[in-house]
Amino acid sequence: MALYLITGIGGFIGSSLARELLQRGEQVRGVDNFSTGRRENLAPILGQIDFREADILDFDAMKSACAGADYVLHQAAIPSVPKSVLDPIGSNRANIDGTVNVLVAARDAKVKRVVFAASSSAYGDTPTLPKHESMNPDPISPYAVAKLASERYMISFYRCYGLETVSLRYFNIFGPRQDPSSPYSGVLAKFITQMLSGKQPTMFGDGEQSRDFTYIDNAVEANLLACKAPAAQAAGKVFNVATGRRVTLNETFKLLQGLTSYSGMANYGEERGGDIKHSLADISLAEKHLGYKPKVDFEDGLKRTVDWYRTSRS
Ligand code: UD1
Repeated sequence: MALYLITGIGGFIGSSLARELLQRGEQVRGVDNFSTGRRENLAPILGQIDFREADILDFDAMKSACAGADYVLHQAAIPSVPKSVLDPIGSNRANIDGTVNVLVAARDAKVKRVVFAASSSAYGDTPTLPKHESMNPDPISPYAVAKLASERYMISFYRCYGLETVSLRYFNIFGPRQDPSSPYSGVLAKFITQMLSGKQPTMFGDGEQSRDFTYIDNAVEANLLACKAPAAQAAGKVFNVATGRRVTLNETFKLLQGLTSYSGMANYGEERGGDIKHSLADISLAEKHLGYKPKVDFEDGLKRTVDWYRTSRS
């Protein structure tokens, strides 16, 4: 049994990781300041985890959280492109300074490995598809810059201090418990909850933008594999976590019409600032070095997610 520290454990991805680790009989400790995470995500598992309400900017709290941990899954962030465009200083603090705090605390506590929630946004709007880790990053939004800077810190801590770190570039993770309620929420959480309650969703632009939408179980699996892969294959490295297939918002909307019984049309609005048009991952590096294979495809993930929102709202 190992002890895993999850930063951002109240979030959609953090709380999903905690559930899976508990299922596997592992020990879980978590921190969250609930700036974007939610108490409801933790309520059912609170008795089974060592939870500390703390900000990753609080170095002493990170020091004590890392003490005795085997692995750190660093998920805490302000995870939004548009929010970072409005507030680059806040994004920088949480997404870069917070990461450095976690890294120093993890290094001093001699944890075995830190796995970081990096982002596909690091690639920017480069026309080449699919995106491969060997491509030059070209981040557009402050959020993307911050995620890329943190990735470089991960690599730096491996090179300078020998702390084993792995960065996972998430491609649009979706699934149960993703918060649909903020204007910055992920598009699928928004569209599904809007359509289930008969509200018209709005596409920003023509709806022809595409994403490699990745169901949460695939991201959870990638994190657990990243903890255990041999250091020679994983430490100090960056991997795409995705499915290797992209769908447009228009196609997604049609699938959701079938799954939610929403019979109206979509609304089309202005394109969103800092947005990128197409996103698709090459996942061969994670397949080769981590043994990663997407377990749940887009359609199945979409169905599971719609079912979850339908039952959790009733
Ligand atoms: C980006 C990053 C992703 C990161 C996420 C954090 C890329 C490719 N991905 O996702 O790695 O984890 O930010 O927030 O950069 N949209 C609508 N209507 C809505 C909401 C969104 O049309 O009501 C559109 C957006 O304009 C965008 C697409 O849906 O084109 C996806 O948006 P969103 O879910 O916010 O994620 P990304 O910005 O792609």
